[in-house]
Amino acid sequence: MKIFLDSADINEIKTYINTGFVDGVTTNPSLIAKSGRNILEAISEICSLVDGPVSAEVAATDYETMIAEGRKLAKLADNVTVKVPLTEDGLRTCRTLSDEGTDVNVTLCFTAGQALLAAKAGATFISPFVGRLDDIGQDGMGLIEEIVTIYDQYGFDTEVLVASVRSSQHVVDAATMGADVVTLPPKILGALYKHPLTDKGLAAFISDWEGTGQSIL
Ligand code: E4P
Repeated sequence: MKIFLDSADINEIKTYINTGFVDGVTTNPSLIAKSGRNILEAISEICSLVDGPVSAEVAATDYETMIAEGRKLAKLADNVTVKVPLTEDGLRTCRTLSDEGTDVNVTLCFTAGQALLAAKAGATFISPFVGRLDDIGQDGMGLIEEIVTIYDQYGFDTEVLVASVRSSQHVVDAATMGADVVTLPPKILGALYKHPLTDKGLAAFISDWEGTGQSIL
């Protein structure tokens, strides 16, 4: 399973890219706004730091403008994936850009029916938002299970990119269900390392080692 970083913050991306775990990056208009950067400059810079796909989202909602924005974003770097919302115009845009050879991430997916349409529109990635479904009392990971089953059943190439991730358990569940990608806010990637027994065990090892008076080097 691939791990993407869900961030438009260059310093955060630089820090986490050094872990070797980051296979790509996703951004959205809210993350670009939070970064305070110009979208074209930020995406170009992120693409130069990351080898894998970098999702850059269109801002328009009508087909013609989304196509123009998508083509402009796609020209920024070879590893740009154009992100479009799961609307009628968004899926038309997905079909056109995909036919032109551009990778497309269809975002804001909340049902398996929407995911089926995105796959038929030639999406490279579908982004179901699990945390936002959990927030309204629905079963975010249940949606991932449904989409993985449907895509496997029909052999769709579209990759399931689990988004709006809120916990380490979401990541483990996504891996168990066979999702292709999870995109993680940096704090969740950091949390994946952690277990109190790891810290406790290491403290004991250090203390016992010091008692030996030895040095490996
Ligand atoms: C993914 O592409 C989205 O940018 C992101 O995961 C949304 O997460 P949120 O619900 O925490 O804003």
